[in-house]
This record gives sequence, C-alpha cells and structure tokens, in this order.
Amino acid sequence: MNVTSAGPRWWQGATMYQIYVRSWRDTDGDGYGDLGGVIAGLDYLKWLGIDAIWLSPTMPSPDQDWGYDVSDYLGVHPQLGTMADMDKLIAEAGDRGIAILLDLVPNHTSDAHPWFIDALSARDSAHRDYYVWADPAAGGGPPSASPDPAAPPNNWVDAIGASAWTFDDATGQYYLHNFLPGQPDLNWWEPRVHAEFEEVLRFWFGRGVAGFRIDVAHGLYKDALLRDNPPLVGGGRLEGSFGQRPIYSQNRPETHGVYRDWRRIADRYAPPRLLLGETWVGDLARLASYYGDDDELDLAFNFPFLFARFDAGDLAGVVERTLAALPAGACPVWTASNHDVSRFPSRWCGDDERKARLALLVLATLPGATVLYYGDEIAMTDATVPAALRRDHMTPGVGTGGRDAARTPMQWDGSLTAGFTAEGVTPWLPYGDNAHRNVAGQRDDPGSTLNLCRNLLALRRAEFAGRLVAYERLPAPPGAWVYRSGPLLVAANFSTETVALDGTAGEVLLTTPGREVRERDAELWLQPWQGMVMRAS
Ligand code: GLC
Repeated sequence: MNVTSAGPRWWQGATMYQIYVRSWRDTDGDGYGDLGGVIAGLDYLKWLGIDAIWLSPTMPSPDQDWGYDVSDYLGVHPQLGTMADMDKLIAEAGDRGIAILLDLVPNHTSDAHPWFIDALSARDSAHRDYYVWADPAAGGGPPSASPDPAAPPNNWVDAIGASAWTFDDATGQYYLHNFLPGQPDLNWWEPRVHAEFEEVLRFWFGRGVAGFRIDVAHGLYKDALLRDNPPLVGGGRLEGSFGQRPIYSQNRPETHGVYRDWRRIADRYAPPRLLLGETWVGDLARLASYYGDDDELDLAFNFPFLFARFDAGDLAGVVERTLAALPAGACPVWTASNHDVSRFPSRWCGDDERKARLALLVLATLPGATVLYYGDEIAMTDATVPAALRRDHMTPGVGTGGRDAARTPMQWDGSLTAGFTAEGVTPWLPYGDNAHRNVAGQRDDPGSTLNLCRNLLALRRAEFAGRLVAYERLPAPPGAWVYRSGPLLVAANFSTETVALDGTAGEVLLTTPGREVRERDAELWLQPWQGMVMRAS
C-alpha cells in the first residue's frame, strides 16, 4: 500500500470516495458494475485527487440487501469479480497512491451464510449461539404457559417496521433480525463471533486493504435481557423509528469493547488500518463515545451533519458541537451523500448547481476527513426510479425511488449508456434524469463543478494532508458562514442575497461559481450561494 500520506493517521485531511460498485462501471456486459470497472476508474480518481476509496459490499451475498447480507466474509462476490481482481485493484490503486477500504457487516450475516444454515439445523448445532435466539414471548410479549409463536420475544421492530423476530418452526424459537428476515443478527455475547471477525480483519488487512467502513457500527451487542424498547416521544430520524427508541437493540455499552479490540489489531499494521464506523446516532456525545479514549473507531460518520438543513447556522452549529464533543485529537468526518439517503445536490440543493458547489467547498475545507459519494463531484442528483424497476427491498414503495434513487449508474458521458456499460446492455438500475451532467461534459470545462471539486481537493491535499487543522468561526453577515480552517479562510454565503464580508481579508485562492465573478471577489462580496477560499493573512 502506498497511501499518499501513509503516516500514523493518514486519514486526517484525506478525501475518501464511496463507490457503489454495481453502479460505477460495467466491464463484463452484465449490466452490473464490477471490480474491473473500479480498476478502470482509478486514473480518473487519481486525477480528481482522491486518497482512499470505500467500496460498497464486495463479499459474496444473495443480495437481498445488495451485499449487506454477507454469506462469506473472506470472498469476493462473483458478480463483481474474483479475488484476483480484488488483489489487482488493491495493487493498482496503491500504485496511484489510493487506499482501498472495504465494507464490513458485523451486525448480521445473510441467512445463506453457512453459520446460519448450521444454526437453523438444531438447537444444539455448533453455530446456534452465533445468532440471537429466543423463545416466544420470553422477556417481551405476554407471558404464556404454552409458547405462542405469534408472540415474539419483545417489541423490537426491523427496518421495514415489522417484528424484528422471525419464528423458526423446526427448532421452535425466534431469531432476531434488525433489518430484513434474510439478515439474522449475530450474537456478540458469543466469544467465537469475536474470534471470527478478528480473523476477517487480519485476512483483509494482510491483503493490503487499508481499513473498513463498518456497517451498523452502533449495533452489534443487544441487551442481554432483550427488554422492550420504550416509545419514541418526539425525536428525529436518528433517534428511532416506527415509534420506538431503540435503546436496548442499539448502542449497547458492550459494543465499545469490540472496537477497542479491533483498534489494537488495526494499529499493529503499517500504515495503521482505518476503522470508519457507520454510527447512525443523533446525539453528538454518543457519536463521540465511539472514538473512545482515542482507542476505538478512528472515524465515526456524522449523520447530524448529513441531515442538517442547508443553512449557515445549522451546519456551523453541528460542526462546532461535533468538534466540542470529540475527544482531543479525534478526527471528525464529514459526508453529505451515501447509498442510503437522497444525494445532497437534490436533498440540500434542490438541483441548484450553485448550492452543490457551495456544499463541495464546505466539505473540502472543514477540518478532518471527508467522504464524497460517487457523482457528488459532478453534482449528480437523485434519479426517478419507477416502481417496476426498483431493486431495493427495504424501500420498495418510497417516493420516486427510495434508496435506489441514489444508486443509479455513474454518469460518465452523454451517450445512451452514460458510459456505464456497453450499448444494448440493460443497466441494473435505470440511468439518471440529468444525464447531461456527466464527467466527459465537465472534464474539459474549467468552470465546471467537476473542475471546481478537483481544485478544491488539490488545495485540501496541499494544506490538510495528514493533519488535523484547527477550526474557528469568524463573524459573518446573516446567512453567511465564515471560518478559519488551518491556513485557510472560508466564506460561504448560504443566502439569496449578495453579502459583503467586511473585515475578512486574504488572498483569494478559489471561488464558486467560477471565473465570471473573479472581479467582484477582490471586493470581498459574495453572490447568493457563492463560496470563497482565501489564504488567511
Ligand atoms: C447500513 C447500510 C444499509 C443496509 C443496512 C443493513 O445502514 O448502509 O445500506 O441496508 O446497514 O446492513
């Protein structure tokens, strides 16, 4: 591995890039993106200035949840490629100074995993205790003298709002699944589960994988007594769902011990391997707890930032509360899109490219790590996915596309196949609505969003690589956010008014929306939704 700044904390100041592999580039003509496609895109990502790629799940899976239901943690999904392809990808990325992160799913497996198949075979099977089993109504529903399979052990709900328990007729117990029934939750009270995953970490770290994005990192342990979750009173999307506050099924204190163990393993490698958690929590103190005493996760995804309104005060508030909450030396990580949520150019920006550029400017200049989602750099928006073409089982009936709306093929060029696959091949998900927004159309245009993004990432690398710079908010007119980030001074106008930045001075390094406003930049005026990066004087 040859990560740009392969120092002890190479992710500080790094730019990571999430590739949803099935939608990136199809090189074998089956309509699904593949590892060959990731390899084919490496030169582009080097040109763009990416330090690390996080690949959405690459392990074998029956794909009830597109790889988030793993049936072999030590393999490569045949639809995506072979182990030789993975090795080649790691090597070729390394040659370009790009690190590869895999997606690890430790909260649950697929029901097709050999562990679960064995667990189902008998109550005394070798792998029975790898999963969470409970008798009907135990600790939850109404007590019953003769167990009633209609009474699940407690009130927990799964990702689609049904009971999180499925009854297995053959062995007469329920198993737990916080997501789909095909994703049985692992039992982290079982020491052998710890040993299995430590083996998985060592296997991939040894192959040159630079780290893991850890799926449902706030999951893992479940309450030993399987107590009912209390009702959700108030609280937003991150506090609970389906009327429940999941205090007994998530964020259990024992989970922290898993990350302390993993961190000891990851830190033994050179460079140290990265643990980046999908910490789906609303409370920033809780988020901070996943960094431990600088001995748990290296990075914990910040969903309060992602779900904040696109507003100067709201975003600045989350950033400042995050920085205040994190333990000393901990590195924040900012992201605005991923495969589970609406893309930020749609959600934050209503398809207004000025706003998307402003968002990229902020993402690139906040201290810490940042993670872009494929297509962010061209301001790719959500697609409309008609019901008949939906592929996601968790959001089949949602809005105009559910999660599929953010998973459509990368827009490489303006051709009929968007450069994603060969002509005549049907892509696994339909092409986006705004195909005119594509890499080929923007690459040679110096004023494009793509080139703005590239320039921002170059600046970011020059000033931030391998470092965690200090942040300070400076006075700003209403609607604007002005901050110092290490040697950079950033001014961002989140309003529909032109604002004057009295007293904010510095050499202008870069502006949005582009060259046409350069003259005015010198006067330190910001157009609506314009952002500017200066060198602090
Ligand atoms: C995470 C993934 C999501 C998946 C779920 C279950 O939230 O990001 O895509 O459906 O976990 O694994």
